[in-house]
Amino acid sequence: MNEGISRREFIKGGIVASIALAAAAAGVPLVEYITSERVVIGKVSGERKGKLPIKIANKNDLQPDSQKQFIMPINPDGSRGQHPAILIRLRPELAQKAGTEFKAFSALCTHLGCIVHLEPGNDIYCPCHAGYFDPVTGEVISGPPPRPLPEIEIEIDENGDIYAKGWK
Ligand code: FES
Repeated sequence: MNEGISRREFIKGGIVASIALAAAAAGVPLVEYITSERVVIGKVSGERKGKLPIKIANKNDLQPDSQKQFIMPINPDGSRGQHPAILIRLRPELAQKAGTEFKAFSALCTHLGCIVHLEPGNDIYCPCHAGYFDPVTGEVISGPPPRPLPEIEIEIDENGDIYAKGWK
């Protein structure tokens, strides 16, 4: 190893390079991916094997009206990849409307691929051009996105563990 590069710097560089590759593979603008406050890296079993279902959280991990990012090992078109996604625990009035507390969607905006996130007390928001999506259905509410966010089928077991089973 180059003497001018410490082991720690080398490892850090590898992590950044891995994020860059994952972001590039998913078509995510790298700066947006790295600067997102809600990025969760790793800790999703099976993500590199391209297999589903994968455990994405436990019910107790999320408060109502919050989200968790995770990586789907398969893209919505069925190809293998590392696709950013969000698990949402709906606020009570939306959960009642939806008939479920949890929903999961692609986190890639259908306009130009920026990372979307849940705005607490509001809808799913894309910061690039102010696109809004319905957190219950993924439908476009306003802004330039041309299509809804692809939805992910989830399953919750008796322990409250939440699994992503595939794209709807
Ligand atoms: S990339 Fe999301 S609104 Fe343009």
